[in-house]
Amino acid sequence: MARFETQVGIVGAGPAGLMLSHLLHLKGIHSVVLEAKSRAYCEQRVRAGVLEHTSVKMLCEAGVGERLEREGLRHEGIELGLNGVRRRIPFVELTGKCVTVYGQQEVVKDLIARRLADSGDLRFECGEVSLEGIASDRPRIHVNRNGNMDEIRCEYIAGCDGFHGISRGEFPAGTLSIYEREYPFAWLGILAEAAPSQQELVYMHHQRGFALYSMRSPRITRLYLQCTPDENIAQWSDDRIWSELHTRLDCADGWRPTEGRILQKGVTGMRSFVAEPLQFGRLFLAGDAAHIVPPTGAKGMNLAFADVYYLAEALGAFYRHGDRQRLQSYSETCLRRIWKAQRFSWWMTSLMHRFENEPAFDHKRQLAELEYVMTSRAAATSLAENYVGLPLDKA
Ligand code: FAD
Ligand code: PHB
Repeated sequence: MARFETQVGIVGAGPAGLMLSHLLHLKGIHSVVLEAKSRAYCEQRVRAGVLEHTSVKMLCEAGVGERLEREGLRHEGIELGLNGVRRRIPFVELTGKCVTVYGQQEVVKDLIARRLADSGDLRFECGEVSLEGIASDRPRIHVNRNGNMDEIRCEYIAGCDGFHGISRGEFPAGTLSIYEREYPFAWLGILAEAAPSQQELVYMHHQRGFALYSMRSPRITRLYLQCTPDENIAQWSDDRIWSELHTRLDCADGWRPTEGRILQKGVTGMRSFVAEPLQFGRLFLAGDAAHIVPPTGAKGMNLAFADVYYLAEALGAFYRHGDRQRLQSYSETCLRRIWKAQRFSWWMTSLMHRFENEPAFDHKRQLAELEYVMTSRAAATSLAENYVGLPLDKA
C-alpha cells in the first residue's frame, strides 16, 4: 500500500472539488483531489449552464475567469412566457447585475487546466474510495488506483462527490437530518447544433407542460421539455422533440426556436434535497453531496461554489491563525444560503410547471401568480434578485 500525506483530501473533481482545491492552493494549503471518472468524462459531462454574477466574480477574482470572460455569454435578463406570450425580466435594470451563460464542462476544463498548470495533485479513475477515522484528527482516504491500494492521510476531508458519492454515507447513523421533496415530473433535455434565435433564456409555462429555451454558445442551443419522471427517451424521435418544442415555445409574435441537428438527449429527474449538518468531525460536505435543487432556478453549480468559498475561507483562517471558529460555523453559514436557494428553486419550479390532476383552484392561482410576476415590477425584482444570486454573506 502506498501512503501519501496532504492537508485536505478532496473526494470528487466536479465544480465543487476543483474550485476548492484551487482556492486552497491560492492560500498555500495543499490538497489531493480523488475522482472516480476519467478526466475526459469530467470535461465532457453536459450539465449546468448559468453562472450567477457572484460565481463569475469568484472565478475571476481567483484568476480562473479569463476564458469565461472572453467566451461566456452575458445575459442581462430572462423571458418568462405563458402560452406563447413572453415578458422580459430585465435583471440589470432591476438589480444592477446579470448572469453569464457558460457550460459547466467549460468551467471544469478551465479549473483542471489551472490545477495541473499549478502542479496540483488531481487523481482520476480512482476506484473503491472509502474514508476512515473522520472523527479523529488524522482522517484517511483509501482508494484503488490501477489495482493498487493508496492511503491518503489528511488533516481534513472535503466530500465534494455529488449526490451519488460516498461521503454523505460516512456520517454516523443518526447524525444527519434529511429534508427532501420529489416532483411528479422530469426534464427531457437536448443539445442542438443551432444558432440561438434569440439572446436570452425563455422559461415557458404551457398547458402541455413547461419548456425552457437556453443556449451554450453562438452555435449551440440547449432546450428542455417537462416530461414524466419515467419518460422513455427511446420514444422521442428528433422530429417528435422538435414538434413538441414548437408547440410549447412558438410565440404569438412569431418567435420560434431554430432547429438543428440534435447532438445529445437525456432525461433528468427533479428533486429538492438537503442533508444537515454539512460537517461531522473532520469531514465537510460541499455542493451536490449535501444538497440538490431542481434545475428551474439554475442554482446547483452556484451553490456548490458558495459552499467551497466558505470552506476555503474557514480552512484558510485555521491554517493561517489557528482559528477554528469558521470551521465550526461552516455548516450554519452555508445552510442560510442553501435554504434561500432551495426556496427560490422550489418556487420557480412550482410557478412554471404543469401539475397533473391538481385541483382547479391551484391551477388558477398558479396562472394568476405567473401573470403577477410578468407584470409587477416588485414581483419581478424579487425573482431577479434571487436569479442573479444573493450576495455572499461575509463569514
Ligand atoms: P458534481 O458535479 O456531481 O461532481 C461530483 C464529482 O464526484 C463527479 O465528478 C463524480 O464523478 C465524483 N464522484 C462521485 N462519487 C465518487 C466517488 N465515490 N469517488 C470519487 N469521486 C466520486 N446548476 C446550475 O447552477 N445552473 C444550471 O443551469 C444547472 N443546470 C443543470 C442541468 C442539468 C441537466 C443537471 C443534471 C444539473 C444542473 N445543474 C445546474 C446542477 C449542477 O450541474 C450541479 O449542482 C453541479 O454539478 C454540482 O457540482 P458538484 O461539484 O457538487 O457535484
Ligand atoms: C441550461 O442551460 O442548461 C439551463 C439553464 C437554466 C436553467 C437550467 C438549465 O434553469
